[in-house]
Amino acid sequence: MEKKIKRIGVLTSGGDAPGMNAAVRAVVRTCIACDIECIGIRRGFQGLINSDFRKMDGNSVSHILSRGGTILYTARSDDFMTEEGRQRAVTTCKMLGIDGIVAIGGDGTFRGALELSRLGVPVIGIPATIDNDIGCSNYTIGFDTACNTAVECIDKLRDTMQSHERCSVVEVMGRNAGFLALYVSIAVGATAVLVPEREVDFERDVVERIQNARLAGNTHFMIVVAEGVGSAFDIGKRIKEELGMDPRVTVLGHIQRGGAPNARDRETATRMGYFAVKAFAEGRVNRIVGTQHGDVVDLPIEEALQMKKRLQMERYDVLEAMGNFGH
Ligand code: F6P
Repeated sequence: MEKKIKRIGVLTSGGDAPGMNAAVRAVVRTCIACDIECIGIRRGFQGLINSDFRKMDGNSVSHILSRGGTILYTARSDDFMTEEGRQRAVTTCKMLGIDGIVAIGGDGTFRGALELSRLGVPVIGIPATIDNDIGCSNYTIGFDTACNTAVECIDKLRDTMQSHERCSVVEVMGRNAGFLALYVSIAVGATAVLVPEREVDFERDVVERIQNARLAGNTHFMIVVAEGVGSAFDIGKRIKEELGMDPRVTVLGHIQRGGAPNARDRETATRMGYFAVKAFAEGRVNRIVGTQHGDVVDLPIEEALQMKKRLQMERYDVLEAMGNFGH
């Protein structure tokens, strides 16, 4: 018979993402429904090392569904990279009588969770990152809200670029992935987008795109650069040198990670949090939760970490077809 799970810990780690709070809330409330105690670990894996925790009850997660950030705080722990740090984290789990950890975050979080599982602490991961770069899940919590934030900012930029008949170069986040950049580019009708998944040919991807837009009658241009490609300032400089324009460069930065999670992120986070605790309760551990074709699923952590997500280049073709006629 499966060992009854009595107590689990929940933590958020890595870059925060809108909807992390909704996931924490769902984990805590599902625990209560399943008669499991829940301990909130503060500041990610560093909190496990430092024994930095708080007991969670139904009220401790009231009014957080709509809040950005994470009430548990987050961190990227260098100590957890060491054997000694990981051993201390395991000791904390033993001391608190924790039967397992729900780790909410991205790729780095799951690698940390894998290390914990290898040391005998059962884990379940929930994907939350604005980068949407987790192979085992179609969708990661926070992506849609971040897209909407970027779209709102770029729409505003467009107004002033249009008035001044300028070229705008906008850098969006995404680490080594172009999901955010490509998705946002279609939504704002960008003139061009540069993503790390496609080798940049400046002539083809920027110069010709601007020339085509100009021939189509446009007098302002929006170039979106995924941060994984390099600095938007360098792209702006090249545009100036090669086209004689005077572009304005904007790095959207961390603003993309803030704000109230939208409906999709709240709903997905709530379902994933529920699913993660149910998996624990049913004895399915060392898994990563994800969405596949709209359903919430879970996969063994090692297998999940091997999976790669392809950036759909068809989206690139869609953007190109739109741009040929101007915005
Ligand atoms: O992974 C989320 C993310 O926002 C990336 O898009 C970005 O590259 C990185 O985190 C920024 O990290 P930091 O908050 O440490 O500057």
